[in-house]
Amino acid sequence: MGPAKKGGRPSAGGKKTSVRRNGESRSKAAGEREKNSGAVLWAGRTAEKPDAGAFAFQASLPVDRRLAFDDIAGSRVHAAMLGKQGIIPAKAAARIDAELGRIARDLETGKLAFDEGAEDIHSFIEGILTARLGDEGRMVHAGRSRNDQVALDFRLYLKRTVPELRAGLAETIRVLLDQAEKYASAVMPGYTHLQRAQPVTLGHHLCAWCAGLERDLSRFADALVRLDECPLGSGALAGSGLPLDRAETAGALGFARPTLNSMDSVADRDFALELSSACAITMIHLSRFCEDIVIWASEEFNFIELSEAWSTGSSIMPQKKNPDFAELIRGKAGRTAGNLVALLTLLKGLPYAYDKDLQEDKESLFDSLDTVGACLRIFRGMMQSASFNLKRMKAACAGGFLEATDAADYLVRKGLPFRKAHEAVALIVRDCVAAGRRSLSQQPLAEMKKRSPLFEEDVYRALSPSACAGARTTPGGAAPKEVRRQIRTLRKKLTKA
Ligand code: ARG
Repeated sequence: MGPAKKGGRPSAGGKKTSVRRNGESRSKAAGEREKNSGAVLWAGRTAEKPDAGAFAFQASLPVDRRLAFDDIAGSRVHAAMLGKQGIIPAKAAARIDAELGRIARDLETGKLAFDEGAEDIHSFIEGILTARLGDEGRMVHAGRSRNDQVALDFRLYLKRTVPELRAGLAETIRVLLDQAEKYASAVMPGYTHLQRAQPVTLGHHLCAWCAGLERDLSRFADALVRLDECPLGSGALAGSGLPLDRAETAGALGFARPTLNSMDSVADRDFALELSSACAITMIHLSRFCEDIVIWASEEFNFIELSEAWSTGSSIMPQKKNPDFAELIRGKAGRTAGNLVALLTLLKGLPYAYDKDLQEDKESLFDSLDTVGACLRIFRGMMQSASFNLKRMKAACAGGFLEATDAADYLVRKGLPFRKAHEAVALIVRDCVAAGRRSLSQQPLAEMKKRSPLFEEDVYRALSPSACAGARTTPGGAAPKEVRRQIRTLRKKLTKA
């Protein structure tokens, strides 16, 4: 590539780009491509035009364009502060503010289109501003660097989108709690090692899911508290010699306070790590719930009936109704785990303060946030429309000696040490198996007494699946009454969340 006009913009794919001067260009028709100032922000430094391919490689607009409105909000507050502090003329500050407002509206209505040739969202917005206002547009970047600007935009974006994600999470918990309430006393087998273990209730199982999701909700909230500091005014890394009012801009942008240290402000991505981790953990939860659903939907279990609208068929096997949505959510948990590892690896060993590597931070977190939002929506819809085969669940409690622990507890109540009670019941289970009986209730009292004289007629009352589940009234237990209390507690947490 031959020497090029200083300050020019790289031309990609032979497309002609022109350098525009002050306020020359206004977009007229809706969606018409408006030329920005045309110069890359750092054009003064290099005599040679950047190589088009290399420029495109380092450009980030395809990813950071979703920060457009946050970038504009940050610039408006920054410009107003510059005016107030007398760093730029008040008139210029007012005109910058008004023009940035217009740019936001033009983007919203589609009157202004993103220039795919722009380097990033910051240079795109500043370029349009400069094209429209000339030198007044060129004033906006005083005391600021794209390093603090991008840290600000990223935080602003998360401050407005993570609450939406939390609302989706809360809504999902509500859907599950409604079902938990409906099925608070519907008995089903609880599993350990995927072997039938003890009778629980469907409400108990669904509340278990909710307990995990409620922690996710609070994890996102925690991350938002630490994220709530404004990096604007940190400059490239060292702060500014201009009399910036950082407290003013932080407050105007809705932050609790400015960040403490300018170098940390441009280097730190803890907030992204925390949110990426919260996303990955939420997805791990969803993947486990979905695994339960996939198992329950199998012919072998037949505990759940997914509505037809939330299932798919097979292209070859006409009889199939597949739980594809549950499987896909389970699968998508993988990418959020990958996104977290990608971000951790990106940050590992990065020298202080800003490095271009950091530009890679947004794509993976955006993907995780999008994935969690979409999966919560789908999971909710799938669960809301699902029906449960309560008869089948109850029947699955019979025949596997799920009441054995309760028989042992019966003996403990009568004073027998637990280890001895465990042994006595284990022997009765063996007796039953030898006699072809499938539950302790089928074992005659005389036979039971051979293993422990403490058994009386009333033992049989303690052995039905609903009696077993109903007896578990300890806080957190499976008893319907206790499940209803758990539901109330979770609902209360949701109203405070
Ligand atoms: N697009 C960049 C990012 O996302 C903005 C900051 C660029 N700063 C710089 N000094 N190159 O990180």
